[in-house]
Amino acid sequence: MRKPFLGGNWKMNTDKASAVALASALADSVGSLTDKVDVAVCPPFVYLDTVSQALAQSSIAVSSQDIYFESNGAFTGEISTDMLKDVGCEYVLVGHSERRHVIGETDELINRKVKAAIAAGLKVIFCVGELLAQREAEQTDEVVKQQIEKGLVGIDAAGAANITIAYEPVWAIGTGLTATPAQAQEVHAMIRNLIAGMYSQDFADQVRIQYGGSAKPANAAELMSQPDVDGLLIGGASLKPEDFTSMIASAAESV
Ligand code: PGA
Repeated sequence: MRKPFLGGNWKMNTDKASAVALASALADSVGSLTDKVDVAVCPPFVYLDTVSQALAQSSIAVSSQDIYFESNGAFTGEISTDMLKDVGCEYVLVGHSERRHVIGETDELINRKVKAAIAAGLKVIFCVGELLAQREAEQTDEVVKQQIEKGLVGIDAAGAANITIAYEPVWAIGTGLTATPAQAQEVHAMIRNLIAGMYSQDFADQVRIQYGGSAKPANAAELMSQPDVDGLLIGGASLKPEDFTSMIASAAESV
C-alpha cells in the first residue's frame, strides 16, 4: 500500500512573513491528516530555514525547489545538499519543468543532481512531463520514458528507493488545464511499467508517482482515485492553506 504524498510547490512566491504565515496556517489545519498522507512544502531557498523552524513541531516536511550537484566551492549562486540539510530540508525537487524549459536544464544535469541528492541522504521529487506539442504529436510516452531513463542513469534500486516521481504535463502547469484523470492514469501506469523494467515489479509497486498540473480542490479526489496516482504536486493551490488542506483531506479519503 502506497501512502499518498502531496507536495506544495510555492515556486517564486511569498515573502518571509507570508511564507511563515502560510506554513503555520497549514500546520494548524492539517492536524492529524499527516497520519494518512505525507505532506511537504517547497518554499523559495531564502525562506527554507524560517519555514522549517515554523514547521518544527508539525509532521509537514520541507523541500527545496532545486539543488546543485557539487558539495562546495566556486559555484556562484548555487546551493549544496549540505546547506539544504543544514536548514531542515528532507526533500528536494529536481527537474521541475520550469527548470527544464525556462532555465534550460538538461537530462544530464538533472541526473547529476538526483545522484548528488541521494548520496547526501535527501529524498528526491523527480519531475517529468511532456510539452503540449509533444502530446499533440503523440510523443508523450517517449518523452517521459527518455526523461526517466536519462534522469535515473546509474542509480540502483537502493538509491531509487529515495525517489518520488512527479508526472507534470507541461501544458497543464499553471494553465488551469488539468490532465483528465484518465490521461494522468495512462501515463502513471506507463511510468510504473517502465520502472518495473528498470528495477523490478516489487520496486515499481512501492514507488510513489505524483500528478502535477493545475491540481485543485475540485479535481483532487478524482485524480487521487486513479490506481496509479499516489499523490499530487501542487503549485497555485498550495498557496492557499484551505485549498491545500482540502486536497490533503481528499487524499486521506482515497486510502
Ligand atoms: P500548478 O503547478 O499546480 O500551479 O499547475 C504545479 C507544479 O508546477 O508543480
